[in-house]
Amino acid sequence: MTKTLLVTGASRGIGLETVRRFLQETSPDKGTVSRIVLVARDSQDYSDALAELEANNPREIELFTYRADVGDRDGLLELIDCIVEEVGNVDFLVNNAGYTNPVALQQVDFADFERTMSVNLYAPFTLVQELLRRGNHFDLIVNIASTAGITGRSGWLTYSASKAALINMSEVMREELAIYGTRVVCISPGRTATALRRVLAPTEDPTTIMQPGDVAAVIEMLASPVGKFVDSANLVVRR
Ligand SMILES: NC(=O)c1ccc[n+]([C@@H]2O[C@H](COP(=O)([O-])OP(=O)(O)OC[C@H]3O[C@@H](n4cnc5c(N)ncnc54)[C@H](OP(=O)(O)O)[C@@H]3O)[C@@H](O)[C@H]2O)c1
Repeated sequence: MTKTLLVTGASRGIGLETVRRFLQETSPDKGTVSRIVLVARDSQDYSDALAELEANNPREIELFTYRADVGDRDGLLELIDCIVEEVGNVDFLVNNAGYTNPVALQQVDFADFERTMSVNLYAPFTLVQELLRRGNHFDLIVNIASTAGITGRSGWLTYSASKAALINMSEVMREELAIYGTRVVCISPGRTATALRRVLAPTEDPTTIMQPGDVAAVIEMLASPVGKFVDSANLVVRR
């Protein structure tokens, strides 16, 4: 049976690389995924990415593209309604969209802390809860946390806290959804060369750290037949 994959934060970085990998002939999912739903905010990056994906789609996978801010709860609820109506069941969900604004504790603006929690924690929760409430059956949910959620980092209070909560929430989801045959895996990548990483470490040489394709390969493996043998609530992926 063909499956549908939904990736949030699909306009660049790990999310875009994940979509690219599923489109390729060599993908180990052996053609299981025939529909991919992409979500990001409207941007030139996103438009450029979509044009590139359309032009490099040898398996003719059906692409559904949505422009939405997953940190805006009302907008996210509308988006979920649209996806249910226009796409139907989501089999593989990759909660990848992420936000960070690293500042010292004294400089944390509470509204920005709420925004961080909305994008990094409440959006994954809402996507899972609201799709379940609409009768969705998930085969696999992959939540992208961070090693910063395992060990808190100085200057990254809001980001670290949101990712720690995501790791814990994933464990609860894993326990609660196992009876439905749903696998929930949390991935905690280490340093990966993306725009988000440049915000966290502006002076770092991106060629010395993990590339987004490395993390995408792990996500792809989880959705492939061998992925069901990976029993982990929090999979650390780092170089
Ligand atoms: N890079 C690292 O070192 C690293 C390490 C550990 C974990 N991670 C996690 O990996 C995930 C992917 O990040 P990345 O490193 O690939 O960063 P990235 O290249 O900056 O990509 C982030 C993606 O999320 C989207 N996004 C951000 N805010 C959004 C919102 N409110 N609504 C919808 N989409 C939104 C972005 O698109 P728009 O902003 O254009 O909407 C973009 O597509 C994040 O959860 C991040 O925390 C990254």
